Amino acid sequence: MESISDGARGAGDWDSLFYKAADDFFLGCEGSALTYDDVSLATLYSEILPKDANYDTRLADGLNLHLPVVSADMDTVTESRMAIALALHGGLGLIHYNMPPKQQLSEVSRVKNHVHGLIREPIKVHADQKIGDVLTLIEEKKFTFSTFPVVDESGRLLGLLPGHCVRARFASRVVGEAMVKRPSVLTIREDELGGDPIARADRFFTDNIGIHKLLVVDKDDHLKGLFTLSDIERISQERSLQTKPARDAKFRLICGAAISPPRLPDGALDKDSLLAHVGAMVERGLDAVAVSTAHGHTRGVGEAVRAIRSEFAFLPIIAGNVTSGAGVQFLAECGANTIKVGQGPGSICTTRVVAGVGIPQLTALYVCSKAAESSGVTILADGGITKSGDIVKALTLSHAVICGSLLAGCPEAPGQIMEINGKFYKQYRGMGSHAAMKAGSAARYGHGKDINRKSAAEGIEALKEVSAPADTVLAQLAGGLQSGMGYLGAANLTQLRANARYTRITTSGLRESAPHDVIEVKTGNAL
Ligand code: XMP
Repeated sequence: MESISDGARGAGDWDSLFYKAADDFFLGCEGSALTYDDVSLATLYSEILPKDANYDTRLADGLNLHLPVVSADMDTVTESRMAIALALHGGLGLIHYNMPPKQQLSEVSRVKNHVHGLIREPIKVHADQKIGDVLTLIEEKKFTFSTFPVVDESGRLLGLLPGHCVRARFASRVVGEAMVKRPSVLTIREDELGGDPIARADRFFTDNIGIHKLLVVDKDDHLKGLFTLSDIERISQERSLQTKPARDAKFRLICGAAISPPRLPDGALDKDSLLAHVGAMVERGLDAVAVSTAHGHTRGVGEAVRAIRSEFAFLPIIAGNVTSGAGVQFLAECGANTIKVGQGPGSICTTRVVAGVGIPQLTALYVCSKAAESSGVTILADGGITKSGDIVKALTLSHAVICGSLLAGCPEAPGQIMEINGKFYKQYRGMGSHAAMKAGSAARYGHGKDINRKSAAEGIEALKEVSAPADTVLAQLAGGLQSGMGYLGAANLTQLRANARYTRITTSGLRESAPHDVIEVKTGNAL
């Protein structure tokens, strides 16, 4: 090694001795593997304000995200509600497969048919109902609104019951007497909403002063939905900020779904069932399928990816998980576009404990990123992300991250909230836990349907404290990512990858990296 006391050395040369680009850094650590908390990123001269950093990412042709975050295909993380929240923020949700295929189809449909701001199933009342009954309904259901569309038995629109008539003094009168009758109710036909329903509704409310509700009807005047002025104003405001939903060419939210390759009794791939199910999801508008297993560098996963690719030439395929360059190349050659990298880093994973297998995540990403580059595929950093700083580090070597634990406490994640000692929690379990494998994910871990005492679980069942809604969590993660990009002078993710300079940190460095030696009175909400 050169002497660092060399007087001819310029200021920047000192930097490069200590803060190294990926190849120098990881090759210098040859033989040992590192993860997020083992390294820190060096700052660089920057002209980029965090708010101007753009984190759009392309995972495959036709699969572009405006936020490089994917929600994990786990049964305590992603169903349609979470996938909608992710897509609205520019990310991608992967609907899990621990459910009957038919249900997975409807989860996909829910995402693809979601129109933000359009309440698809508004609460309706009937003309012969008493206003007193409507008051009881409001009381029972704790509605915060009191204006209701009035429909007949077939769902055809008859009028609108305005909030100012829903009063106790009118309790004995019927809705039909009080409602604004159909000819005076302003509506819009579903097929007139066009490519941008929010902008259309926004225009309507501007044009019609004093109107707060816009009812959507079909050609036979059946009620199909409802926009409210307050929702539209909130959404329009969000639009002028940063969130840009991830949409397909038909302006629908994007949606991914995971599958586990189905097997025939003799263990062979059940190609017909696999292709029928993927085909049905594609028909509903699926944007990406994920062949999700714990060990992706296997004949079984390769066969499934090849089968899907031969039938669906243009469908983006995500496959994994791997932690080796050979694994990436194998899946790329089988036809996958995006490779999930991560074996054992997840917060609920016990693969490394149980099987003694897996690679600390940052080194796994580096090794896989080299193979991804030469194979022309992208990679997803899957598991082990506990804060936005990890996302910045992960994205120096990958194209997006997959989050499970960071999203599992959100109200949008499936599952009931439970109270323990005055605190609120949601269940979060590994897909390799006994309970999840019994519910369907056994194949992902190479087990048959009959989970027995010898089927080693590779995940645990846990709890997550209930967190803020997904939009708040995602906004905080995005904000942290932009800060990191600003420090590295990166206007976009390509520059982030090129600019990253790493240094190893010690346990005392790690301790120094978080608040220390103070009594915290107010958390900074750091994620
Ligand atoms: P985080 O850290 O975000 O990780 O909670 C989510 C990722 O963990 C993986 N996963 C598992 N890995 N046993 C494992 O070894 C499991 O039971 C398990 N369940 C999920 C998965 O890749 C997910 O995206």
